[in-house]
Amino acid sequence: MKIDVFTLFPEWFGWFSSQRHVANALACGSALEYVNPREHTPLGAGQVDDTPFGGGAGMVLRVDVLDSALRAHYGVDPVELRERRRVIALAPSGRPLDDALVDELAAEAEMTLLCGRYEGFDERILEHFASDVVSIGRYVLSGGELAAMVLCDAVLRKLPGALGDERSAHEESFSAALDGDPEYPHYTRPAEYRGWRVPDVLLSGHHQRIAAWRRERSRERGAAAEPPRRGA
Ligand code: 6GU
Repeated sequence: MKIDVFTLFPEWFGWFSSQRHVANALACGSALEYVNPREHTPLGAGQVDDTPFGGGAGMVLRVDVLDSALRAHYGVDPVELRERRRVIALAPSGRPLDDALVDELAAEAEMTLLCGRYEGFDERILEHFASDVVSIGRYVLSGGELAAMVLCDAVLRKLPGALGDERSAHEESFSAALDGDPEYPHYTRPAEYRGWRVPDVLLSGHHQRIAAWRRERSRERGAAAEPPRRGA
């Protein structure tokens, strides 16, 4: 997976790239590249944003600046670029990120992430340059960078080699293996702590009973948590 992140704050991603499963994914052939639109702005003094027409607080990322940055990096009109690859703008108004969307993105060979800042994007960026608009929840972040890291983290850990143990990504929360339910509870040593005992079934060594118990706990959690479910 090759991911290009367009961000005014590429240095934020230094810590992220050094996380073990991200570093593993990179060692296994994935690549993360950063492009700073400020370096491609056609405007003076490194200007990238402007005040909103109609008034209001904050600054908006300009459409001409992102046009220049995308064109400089890919050598094509961004309007055509989105026909060839996923160009995902991170914005609170977008499609909510869930495990099904993460799976869909993990199947792509490459993608582009656009991080807005301040009040966000000029709407024409979303309308003409982005193939997708994605949100990580119903709250507002001060920029798309953290959302881009969340998306990259979730996608990269699905790729072969990112996790030490390949089973970890298979039967985990919201996966098809658990019919979209959250994961069952885990326990480790000590088997008893302050009088809190690990469920006997997990110590029984009886694999079928353990699997049945886990499936049941997973279903209970799914029913308790209710909202959005895979495929719903
Ligand atoms: Cl993708 N961006 C911003 N700025 N805020 C968000 C978000 C994205 N998802 C949830 N809140």
